[in-house]
Amino acid sequence: MSAAPSLYLETYGCQMNVADSELIAGVLRGRGYRSTGDPQQADVILLNTCAIREHAEDKVANRVRQLISIRRSDKPVRIGLAGCMAQHHRDHLLDTIPGLDFIVGPDGYRRLPDLLEADQPAAAVQLDRGETYQGLSPVRGEGLRAWLTIMRGCDRFCTFCVVPFVRGRERSLPAGVLIEELRDIAAQGYKEVILLGQTVNAYRHDGVDFGELLRMACQVDGIERIRYTSPHPADFTDSTISAMAECAKLAPYIHLPLQSGSDPILEAMLRGHTVADFRALVERLRSAIPGLALSTDIIVGYPGETEEDFEATSSLMEEIGFDHAFMFKYSAREGTRSFKTPETLSEPDKVRRLERLIAEQQARTLRIHQSLIGSVVEVLVEGAARRQEHWLAGKDPQYRTVCFEPAGAEPGDLARVLIEAVTSHTLSGRQIAGV
Ligand code: 5AD
Ligand code: SF4
Repeated sequence: MSAAPSLYLETYGCQMNVADSELIAGVLRGRGYRSTGDPQQADVILLNTCAIREHAEDKVANRVRQLISIRRSDKPVRIGLAGCMAQHHRDHLLDTIPGLDFIVGPDGYRRLPDLLEADQPAAAVQLDRGETYQGLSPVRGEGLRAWLTIMRGCDRFCTFCVVPFVRGRERSLPAGVLIEELRDIAAQGYKEVILLGQTVNAYRHDGVDFGELLRMACQVDGIERIRYTSPHPADFTDSTISAMAECAKLAPYIHLPLQSGSDPILEAMLRGHTVADFRALVERLRSAIPGLALSTDIIVGYPGETEEDFEATSSLMEEIGFDHAFMFKYSAREGTRSFKTPETLSEPDKVRRLERLIAEQQARTLRIHQSLIGSVVEVLVEGAARRQEHWLAGKDPQYRTVCFEPAGAEPGDLARVLIEAVTSHTLSGRQIAGV
């Protein structure tokens, strides 16, 4: 009898892609495939890709060419691209990358077995507004944290963003199905769940909105912490905020993409809110949710961004006091509304603006971390610390990494840790008694 065929899968981009890769592995497991960590052993090599910025696509294009160049000749090996980049360049990828066998977009994963059986280059790149992958069982990763996609797609069409074009229209899964999934996740031993969607707080299905879904999720026994990403600032409702305020399992951390701190740029981006709206939202969130940590996404160098617009972004980031930020240079994406708008900032100026924001944010994060020295945080213990022998590491409710000297705690426990030292990346300290 021949051995089970094997799949080598690399994942790029956002957490939704991590969750999608688990679905892809699930589809192929259903056909007898086992996972391997070695591309040289694999019968199928698949890269699950990102299209958000040009850099992300360049990286994958290089990697897939490299994998094609070292492909074994002593057995048939199929090499493919999945996900957003496959969708974005569906019309020419198979022509421009010789040796690529198949491409599959974010709504085509059920068709993977057919693509693997084809004896010529094949594609499944039809977006399908009905596809929610209901009924598929993902192969979840190791550890305490599981991902659960509750809605897919985006209807907002921010001018710079390729997501609505590569992931299609917004669609949510039924609440009952999601609660069943959560029970299953709890039964498998996971302690933390991250609910995912491109605009996760726009979730709505059969009259159940995001706030109600959060309350239902908190009733599932065994799950200790629930997080979600990424919400859109304009989709926050009182229902969601009161759920966050009332349910202890909902971790006090929100990733709240701002993109720019200048009204003319926010308007040009069609973000659907002003600086004043964002400030008011942060006030509502902070007054309802004690200890709330906020992170954000920022784009520098959007076409037309003046020095004054940039300074406005820098000072709003400081005023709000984000705990953490992901900052990017604008990257023109084919198919988006801003693609044809001429860029107004040179590459060195983009780099200068980006580096300044990064330095400012690093100093801000460090300051916030320093203010935590002497306090006690509750850590969900994940495993051994990387740098310190015999120490453990995990996350606090605000999603900060905490390394600590244990006094009896084990992976999976909630430990109380006294913070004694910090960097801009990590808090460290020692476990103290009590709950
Ligand atoms: N260029 C640069 N950054 C982008 N993002 C989305 N599209 C682009 C683009 N064209 C950033 C946004 C978004 C995050 C996921 O990626 O900040 O929130
Ligand atoms: Fe992209 Fe805007 Fe949709 Fe976010 S809300 S995925 S930035 S179009």
